[in-house]
Amino acid sequence: MTKAPVAGSNLGTPTISASLGPSSRSAVEPFLAMDVMSAAARLEAQGRTIVHMEVGQPGSPAPEPVLRLARQVLEDGRLGYTEAIGIRPLRERISRHYSEAYGVDVPTERVMITTGSSGGFNLTFLGAFDPGARIALASPGYPAYRNILSALGLQPVDIAIGPQSDWVLTADLIAEEHRRQALDGVLIASPANPTGTMASLDQLRQICELCASSGIRLISDEIYHGLTYGKPAETALHFNDDVIVINSFSKYYCMTGWRVGWMVLPANLVRPLERLAQSLFISVPELSQRAAVGAFDAAGELDAVKAGYAENRKFLLDQMPRLGFDEILPVDGAFYIYASVAPFTGDSLDFASRMLEEAGVAATPGLDFDRQRGRNYMRFSFAGTNEAMRMGIERLKGWLP
Ligand SMILES: Cc1ncc(COP(=O)(O)O)c(C=O)c1O
Repeated sequence: MTKAPVAGSNLGTPTISASLGPSSRSAVEPFLAMDVMSAAARLEAQGRTIVHMEVGQPGSPAPEPVLRLARQVLEDGRLGYTEAIGIRPLRERISRHYSEAYGVDVPTERVMITTGSSGGFNLTFLGAFDPGARIALASPGYPAYRNILSALGLQPVDIAIGPQSDWVLTADLIAEEHRRQALDGVLIASPANPTGTMASLDQLRQICELCASSGIRLISDEIYHGLTYGKPAETALHFNDDVIVINSFSKYYCMTGWRVGWMVLPANLVRPLERLAQSLFISVPELSQRAAVGAFDAAGELDAVKAGYAENRKFLLDQMPRLGFDEILPVDGAFYIYASVAPFTGDSLDFASRMLEEAGVAATPGLDFDRQRGRNYMRFSFAGTNEAMRMGIERLKGWLP
C-alpha cells in the first residue's frame, strides 16, 4: 500500500521495500463460499437480486429471548472485556444444556466461550498440538479446518469418504491412515458440512474408542446439533471424556453475526487455552455472551425455524432430481444439499460463476470441500427462506440445459 505524505508536513513520501510480502503461512486456499458471497454482493451492488444458497447462514434473526437480553444489556450502558474463558452465567447455562439435552454431566469449569466455533478451532489447534502434528479430516469437509491447520503449521490429512461408508468418516478409515503414518488428531463432524451425513451411534462410539486407545486427540465439531431430520445427534462426550467438543450459536440458534460459540475441554487443556485466549482475543464480545444465555429458552421458536429447513429440504430433494441432478447425498442433518453436477459440467468453479452471473443463484463449488472430486460437485445451502428456495429452483429451471 502506498502511503500518502501527511498533509502539510515536509516529511516526504515513505519508502516501500519491494521485498516485503505476505508470509508463506498465509498462502492458504481461498474459502470459496466466502468468495462467492463477495461476488454476489458485487452483483447486488449493481442492482441485481441474488438467491443466496452459498453460505450456511440462517435466514432468520436471533430468537426473541436473545434479542430481549441484548436490548437490556445495551440499556445497561457499559460493555467491557470479560474473563477470557467467558462469562460464568453463559458457561453455567451451557453446562446445564448438556445435562438437559444429552444427559451428560459437564462441569462449568470445562466450558469455554469462543468467537464462534472458528475461534474454538484456532485455540484448539494451537493449544492441543505442536507444529507438524498430523490431523485427519474427512474429504469432502469444511474448508476452514484445513486452512486454519495449514496456517498454524499443522498438517491436515485428508481421508477420502464416499458411498462405500455412506459418506461418513469411520473408525476403520481412521485406523487405516493411522497405520500408514501415525496421526496426532482427528476432527469429526456429525452432521457434517457439506455432506449433511451423520455417523450412527456405533460409528461414533468406535471412533471415540479408537482415539482413546491409540492416543489420538479427538475433536468433535457439533455445530449442526439440533439440525437433524431423523434421530437427534449424540455428543462424543458420551463416549470419550478427553474429546474436545466445539459448538456454536451460529446455526441452530440463528446467531451467525453474533460470533459466539463454545467448547467443552478436557480439564488439562482449560488453563492452556485460557492463556492463549487472553492474549489472542482477550475476550468474546460481552454483548453476544450476555445475550446468548437466552438462546436456550427459545426451543419453540427455533424448532419452527428448523421446520422451515425441513420443508426446504423436502422441496429441493423433490425438485433437484427433476432438473437433472442425478446424485444427491443423503441429508441427515445440517442445511446443505451436496449434489453431483457431472451431468452438466466437469468444472464446478466455472459452473458456480456462470450460475451466479447468468441465473442469479449463488452456490458453492465442491472444490471448496474436496480438492480432488469437488470439481464434479456443488453445495447448495437451504438455510434461507422457503420463498428463496422456490425462486432458486425457478431460476435454475430456466438456466440449466
Ligand atoms: C462444520 C462447520 N464448522 C464450523 C463453522 C464455523 O461457524 P462459526 O464460526 O460461525 O461458529 C461452520 C460454518 O459454516 C461449519 O459449517
